[in-house]
Amino acid sequence: MKKTFKRVALFIVVVASLYGVGRLGIVTYDSYKFVEREPYMLMQTQNSITIKWQTPQEEIGKINYSLLSGNLEKSLAEKAPTKKHSLSISNLHECANYKYSVESKSLKIDNNERSFQTLCKNQNAQKLWVIGDSGEHGKNQEGVYNQMLKYIDHDFNSLSMWILLGDNAYRSGTQKQFNQSLFEPYHELVKRFVPWAVIGNHDARRWAFYDIWNFPKNAESGGIPSGHDEYYAIDDGNLHIVMMDNQTVDLSKDGDMAKWLKKDLQANTKPWTIVVFHTPPYSDGSHKSDSDSNSGGRMKYMRENFVPIFDEFGVDLVLSGHSHGYERSKLMINHLGKSDSFDITKNVLQDNKSCYTKPLERTKDSGTIYLVTGSSSKLDHATLKHPAMPFSFQKLGSVILEVTPSTLSSKFLTIDGIIADEFMITKNNTKCENEK
Ligand SMILES: [Fe+2]
Repeated sequence: MKKTFKRVALFIVVVASLYGVGRLGIVTYDSYKFVEREPYMLMQTQNSITIKWQTPQEEIGKINYSLLSGNLEKSLAEKAPTKKHSLSISNLHECANYKYSVESKSLKIDNNERSFQTLCKNQNAQKLWVIGDSGEHGKNQEGVYNQMLKYIDHDFNSLSMWILLGDNAYRSGTQKQFNQSLFEPYHELVKRFVPWAVIGNHDARRWAFYDIWNFPKNAESGGIPSGHDEYYAIDDGNLHIVMMDNQTVDLSKDGDMAKWLKKDLQANTKPWTIVVFHTPPYSDGSHKSDSDSNSGGRMKYMRENFVPIFDEFGVDLVLSGHSHGYERSKLMINHLGKSDSFDITKNVLQDNKSCYTKPLERTKDSGTIYLVTGSSSKLDHATLKHPAMPFSFQKLGSVILEVTPSTLSSKFLTIDGIIADEFMITKNNTKCENEK
């Protein structure tokens, strides 16, 4: 009996090891493997944009472009043949709509309705689509995406920006997985919008993320220069958006990212400030922020070292993913400990369900709303009992943000087309009345 048990155990160990080695081999191969990739955009600024693509043959690529009303009369060609193409168009008008097409001999490119907008100094209204942990291709991802398309009435012109909160390509962020999980399923969005993405822990298992993207580390898109692809800011219309890698970067109080963040927020003059990173400070979803060891302690570090900075500069909204569900706080400050130290009388500034007000000027301790949306392609088991995050749903979905100079509204749009949660922050002296 003992002998049989030993044999079975040995068999299981051998099979598991072979499976592990096999998977590692495939994932490593897929990481190195050169993939073809249709054109996508990055480094969007007020007067320029970069377009990258990858072809099976070395060749000279070309971009044709014009203002939306034009006839693709301008063009730009590469100087030397390559498989990994990158062309930057400069001297564009601020806040203007352009169309473009890409020519490359060895790759079939869908040039139908390719367009982009340069970043804007001012805008009356902006609509953003926010997805988190969206990188598992399939029915869930497709369903969440389709509900957004329905919400905007398939009118891409009504959308201003697309933000991805990390874990953009399961399971390991290989080149092949980024094609399968991002570039192919969101093809129509990729033709029209920059995928502004932060890295997640799954993306960071391999090295494709920072090969696919270049980020505006010299403040090309706004903010102050960070000198690092891992953190930077985007100024667009009413928004100052800070994008941070909290996966591979030093998260200490006096680390380079924290120091840069303080300087950047100090210099910010936009009416609304949103900070984006993958691993949240508060969650009782599939990841527990009360565990110091969960996710390498990154939830604790964000809470202890970065929440005080968000408080100091009155950051309006913090967006994260990682836990595969939806969780949202009230307008809150100064909660640096575990959930049992949360005190509604001290940490919640406005004990309302969906209406919050803040001063127009940037004000210390004016409160932040923390939002986790990590269910844009998968759901995990969760208890959702974090007292700081009372509006929580274990549902697949995504977030739509609508922003004007004096209002910011957020809706959690589920895969069933239901708005399961919504709130608005106003900065026009309108008080919330009779709201609990
Ligand atoms: Fe994650």
